[in-house]
Amino acid sequence: MIKGFILHGISDIPELHVFTFFLILFIYLLGLAGNLAIVLLVCLDVHLHNPMYFFLSNLSIIDMSSSTTALHRIFIAFATQNKIVSPKACMAELYIFCSLTSNELCILAAMSYDRYVAICRPLHYHTIMSRRLCGLMTLISWGFGFIEMVPTVFFVSQFTCYISKEIDHYFCDVLPIRAITCSDTSLLDLYILSFGNINISTLLLLTITSYIFIIKSILRIRSSAGRSKAFYTCSSHIMVVVMFYSSIFLQYIATVSGSNMGSNIIFSLFNTSVVPMLNPLIYSLKNKDVKSALRRKLLWIQINFSDTTVKDKSQRMNEFSTSVK
Ligand SMILES: *[C@@H]1O[C@H](CO)[C@@H](O)[C@H](O)[C@H]1NC(C)=O
Repeated sequence: MIKGFILHGISDIPELHVFTFFLILFIYLLGLAGNLAIVLLVCLDVHLHNPMYFFLSNLSIIDMSSSTTALHRIFIAFATQNKIVSPKACMAELYIFCSLTSNELCILAAMSYDRYVAICRPLHYHTIMSRRLCGLMTLISWGFGFIEMVPTVFFVSQFTCYISKEIDHYFCDVLPIRAITCSDTSLLDLYILSFGNINISTLLLLTITSYIFIIKSILRIRSSAGRSKAFYTCSSHIMVVVMFYSSIFLQYIATVSGSNMGSNIIFSLFNTSVVPMLNPLIYSLKNKDVKSALRRKLLWIQINFSDTTVKDKSQRMNEFSTSVK
């Protein structure tokens, strides 16, 4: 039985330690700020109250939570030199992180369906993508993500025998823990290989199918202006999907092809810090709606918190009172 695991990871490379730490901290904070801005904008700006942006802000919440779950141990270890994590905390981390990843795949599939309806059935967009359907899709994504990982964390928590208590990773993930156990892993393997793979392939297939339909109908548009407009409405989402799946795929290749945990850690760091930071960036830089919403909010802040407004307000108050008289 093990009382606590020791998480290695980036701290094993002393020369790189401080630099890597600040780089990761910087990227993490940037991602947090960007995603928080997206969530706030979507909440506050009525122009962004449509399915695409509801899904986007859900995605931002997932990104913030999963990067926090994955990276917080690095920050704790740096500040306190304490790399020990209790088995319970480890299982909780594993559960939350895996569920959020699964949830993210579902939301990406839902977003591609949303783009499919917007481009292939534009006249019925508002009746098909009703609030009810969006709410249902979001609920299923969150519910499915968190239910699907219950067996995984159950199987992992049944491990009693470990050859080492040092985890070769910077947070508790399934494979690094599986690598140090000497308990029977067949149930876990079976579950991951069957259900996990079916799940990822199904969601990937759904996403790709939506895009095949989208591309087909974009190619059918006669005018080039119409074509680029149609492409424009889904380009951000294509970028996010391609980035997310290719980073998962690269990490998978790195895990399967070599026993080298170092490259695995680097891919994983990329997935848990850079990818979550890029989502809001892609959407806000490429997107007119988000940009103008941001401008409106900044203007609103300026008007409400600058000196001229105090005059403005009193002026308006004066006008108001004279009109009452
Ligand atoms: C997540 O999606 C649902 C359904 O589309 C929406 O009602 C909710 O506001 C979204 N969450 C956030 C934080 O925007």
